[in-house]
Amino acid sequence: MIEIRNLSVTYSRITGKDRNAAADAVKDVSLAIEKGRLFALAGESGSGKSTVLMAIPGLLPRGTKISGQILLDGKDLLSMTEDELNRIRWRRIALVPQGAMNSFTPVITVGRHVEEVLSVHLGLSKKEAAERIPSLFALAGLDGALASRYPHELSGGQKQRAAIALALACEPGYLLCDEPTTALDVITQQGIITTLKRLSDEKGVGILLVSHDLPLAASAASKLYIMKDGALVEEGDPRTIAAHPRNPHTKALVNALLELEEEPS
Ligand SMILES: Nc1ncnc2c1ncn2[C@@H]1O[C@H](COP(=O)(O)OP(=O)(O)OP(=O)(O)O)[C@@H](O)[C@H]1O
Ligand SMILES: [Mg+2]
Repeated sequence: MIEIRNLSVTYSRITGKDRNAAADAVKDVSLAIEKGRLFALAGESGSGKSTVLMAIPGLLPRGTKISGQILLDGKDLLSMTEDELNRIRWRRIALVPQGAMNSFTPVITVGRHVEEVLSVHLGLSKKEAAERIPSLFALAGLDGALASRYPHELSGGQKQRAAIALALACEPGYLLCDEPTTALDVITQQGIITTLKRLSDEKGVGILLVSHDLPLAASAASKLYIMKDGALVEEGDPRTIAAHPRNPHTKALVNALLELEEEPS
């Protein structure tokens, strides 16, 4: 299990006239991610969601002040060396960063991207890596035949699924997904969420889904966390939060959830 305890993050601004200014992006956030479950972290733009997510595999910029603990099966990732973290990234905790679908290298095929991850992190040969691609792509809900295409030859939804396949390459126990459905149509969004749910239900992956889309996050998650201005303002079962919101900010969520429930299924 991944347990974040009292995480606070302060970025240092090192450029221009902001040189001495600092921003508290995350304030005293505690949350847990367990295997086999899908957790959602929602909240408006700038509330600190990506900062929490990037803190987990130790990917915040140098010079950032971080306090608290991020425990992976009891071991604090915040006190690990870069070498120790590199053994955990991809293999135990994998990341689909915000905008991942647009960060493929244009001149190599999507299959080749996966082969490189398998070669670098697991030492597989090109042939061994290629053999794994069909099942990996299938996990992400993608036809293996697409592996020979270049990124620009895939649709947005397919690229997002390819980014998920890439993150799954080394069979991580935990998958951190930052806005994996943004900029996609509603049907494609639902399809990707269904794929993520299946990964947690059937493969036992612990998933943290970050989204500013509260109804989408609430519909998918077994536990929902909501951030505002760097702090966690709600946590729990999405329906309980809807019934008894603790924070006025959550009212918008409640309304959105109620509207969802009224929709005929
Ligand atoms: N590298 C950085 N340096 C300085 N400040 C940053 C940096 N990255 C993020 N911030 C600030 O930290 C705060 C939280 O940003 P973060 O990206 O975590 O928000 P978010 O909830 O993911 O927003 P969005 O939904 O728009 O992706 C914001 O005020 C942002 O400007
Ligand atoms: Mg973000």
